[in-house]
Amino acid sequence: MHDNFGEDASGGPSYSEPMVAETAVPEAEYRNPLSAEFMRRSAAERVEILASLRATRGPVRFRQPSSMGGPPVEFYLVTRYAEVEEASRRTDVFSSEPNATTLEDLPPDKRRGAPSMINMDDPRHARIRRIVARAFTVRTIAAFDHRLQEVARGIVDDLEERGPCDFVADVARPMPLKIICTMMGIPEEAHDEVIEHSETFLAATDPLARPPRDAVAQSVRFFDGLFRDLSRERRSRPTGDLTTLLVHDDADGDALDERELAVFFRSLVVAGTGTTRNSLSHALIQLTDHEDQRELLLADVPGRMPGTVEEVLRHVSPVTYMRRNLTRDYVLGDVEYAKGDMIVMHYGAANRDETVFERPDDFDITRDPNPHLAFGGPGPHLCLGANLARREMTVLLGELFTRLPGLRATGAPVLHETGLVYGVDRLPCAF
Ligand code: HEM
Repeated sequence: MHDNFGEDASGGPSYSEPMVAETAVPEAEYRNPLSAEFMRRSAAERVEILASLRATRGPVRFRQPSSMGGPPVEFYLVTRYAEVEEASRRTDVFSSEPNATTLEDLPPDKRRGAPSMINMDDPRHARIRRIVARAFTVRTIAAFDHRLQEVARGIVDDLEERGPCDFVADVARPMPLKIICTMMGIPEEAHDEVIEHSETFLAATDPLARPPRDAVAQSVRFFDGLFRDLSRERRSRPTGDLTTLLVHDDADGDALDERELAVFFRSLVVAGTGTTRNSLSHALIQLTDHEDQRELLLADVPGRMPGTVEEVLRHVSPVTYMRRNLTRDYVLGDVEYAKGDMIVMHYGAANRDETVFERPDDFDITRDPNPHLAFGGPGPHLCLGANLARREMTVLLGELFTRLPGLRATGAPVLHETGLVYGVDRLPCAF
């Protein structure tokens, strides 16, 4: 995300210097887990750096140059499990406004369109979340299970026919987009166009691949139009899809209007498709790298798949962090933060916290319990799509490893080096 951070704050490279505990020290670039330089380190080095950050008592502060030509951005990194949990829960102190996913904010006059729920505090957040939660219960997801299985079967049929291919493009990518389109009730003939515009949105959230503004504006217009028509139709002719649930009043007489529905769908695309795609791709990498765990899985695919999915999510932590802003002075762990400070909760670090997980660096599909924070900490922003993501992964990976037990990654993945997502762009595979 911030790949141009060239110097540490003392003005020169200090890579060999040890961490200084107990004081707020700006860290060298490669120690900043949000920097591209960190992502370029080997997996073992990254694990070691995160462990040393977790072990630091006192504040861990980083400073990065602005990517918008403003003053440098300063934030405090929170890496321990208990503290990520506490900050996620205390939304009165740790605010998601104006932004939870990027470190820099556009000035208010440059912000366009309505914010998505991930960047809202109560009472606005509570209202939207209450309405949309009814569309994402275990029961509503279960009602679409047959469709999930159908899509998974189709993807594996295509893979069988195609042979060696790019796992990301041909297997992981189609699943979440097709499912979310179906669940929202978008007509089949519009799916390809929706997928195309969704890609523009996903790219817009990636600082390394920003699409032209015109293309983004065009996609906004496309979704606004699509959901205007769809919500009108579902209001007069209800069906069993999520759009119907969202546009009809709930018990409090409240529903999403057309505009809110379009914003919500865009946030589902951004929050739910890249994340699931990356998690599926990481699953194949882990199950290629850990032959013992793969054999364990293959001996009982349905029985072992739920544990495998949770362990992939913990070990990989496909969403790396979320940001919060302090609304008042507050002591978190042993650090006194001041009103206005920005913290970054690092899920990858918290998910390897040795006070919670035994042998945290092992990939162990039998780990039980596995209370990872890959979907965020407990609290009002906990991932809305967690049930759906788990189900998509379980069904597609189950279909793959039952029908193609020889499936493996056959070369190095092309990893995606932005700070927010630990993504996979390409992954050759064969079976
Ligand atoms: C493996 C896949 C996924 C991962 C790792 C993931 C991760 C996360 C995380 C870490 C948050 C935390 C937000 C916070 O505390 O600020 C979040 C929120 C959210 N996720 Fe997911 N997610 C995944 C899949 C999905 C899917 C499939 C959907 C929907 C289709 C979805 C929709 C959302 C939404 C709408 C929010 C915002 C919730 C709120 O602010 O109340 N996610 N996700």
